Amino acid sequence: MTKVTVVGAGNVGATCADVLAYREIAEEIVLIDIKEGVAEGKALDIWQKAPINVYDSRTVGSTNDYSKTADSDVVVITSGLPRKPGMTRDDLIETNAGIVKSVTENVIKHSPNAIIIVVSNPLDVMTYQAHITSKFSRMKVIGMAGILDTARYRAFIAEELNISPKEIQAILMGGHGDTMVPLPRYTTVAGIPVTELIAKDKLDAIIERTKFGGGELVKLMGTSAWYAPGSAAAQMVESIIKNQKRVFPVCIKLDGEYGIDDCYLGVPVILGKNGVEKVLELELNSEEKELLETSRTHVKEVMGVLDKISEK
Ligand code: NAI
Ligand code: 2OP
Repeated sequence: MTKVTVVGAGNVGATCADVLAYREIAEEIVLIDIKEGVAEGKALDIWQKAPINVYDSRTVGSTNDYSKTADSDVVVITSGLPRKPGMTRDDLIETNAGIVKSVTENVIKHSPNAIIIVVSNPLDVMTYQAHITSKFSRMKVIGMAGILDTARYRAFIAEELNISPKEIQAILMGGHGDTMVPLPRYTTVAGIPVTELIAKDKLDAIIERTKFGGGELVKLMGTSAWYAPGSAAAQMVESIIKNQKRVFPVCIKLDGEYGIDDCYLGVPVILGKNGVEKVLELELNSEEKELLETSRTHVKEVMGVLDKISEK
């Protein structure tokens, strides 16, 4: 039986569980939260949607009872505070690090072979937290951000060109934040380089909007996004559960790739049943290398903040 746990039954977690269920990505989906009854209620609601939307994945809710999550193939961690207007993702570090640490400890007790996908922010550093807490291989503890960030970038390009978003292929690297590195050189529209279809100033504006795409939504809604983030996490789960070996940008600890050691950054990888099957190393030009270095420096700083908190 294929089983996925989603920790945190808030906006992102519940959306992710819903997508996993209606797309029948796993046979059983466990939704777990600390708030009494919320996960049970949302899991029941998703299950009662099954006869209407015609799927048979089973959703189960739990208030902090990790025995229900036992033997999950994949665990998605979305528990933690979201941003409010005026906050950066990094402002969430102290609270969310404690949550991600305790959740990871509970998860690994019951699912020692699971692949962990972290969603909580600040994403790159929460992936670091889950990795050091679990002590799993780096290939099995990864963060979701790149699929979301590229989806925003692709959606903006589709809108600019009035072309189906299905036709836009793109890759993006770096941390999940304002220093992320969209790569126009690796962006195509049905195989056509995007640079042939969109003028540089327009593309630069799209890249800027992408970098601040999360903030744009926080400003509009007073909290962060959930439809695209929940779907993005579910897409990672699908590639793992079905061993699809799709190529996505995901956050992983770099071990020498791109000349970077010991830093958690988004890079293109192949995702399959073992988690990350391979990190893909692209040839970057000097400008792209510089942008990646800026992103690395920023994530390293925030990793340092986590190290200080952990020493307390
Ligand atoms: P939310 O507030 O709607 O849901 C968070 C849930 O976590 C709440 O239901 C809360 O009760 C639960 N929770 C808190 N502590 C817990 C614990 N110890 N165990 C189990 N559950 C616990 O927040 P939302 O919008 O779902 O966002 C969740 C996280 O995901 C935030 O940190 C947010 O910044 C992040 N996020 C990351 C994205 C990414 O691209 N990586 C995109 C969108 C959000
Ligand atoms: C986002 O990018 C806030 O990380 C969250 O929507």
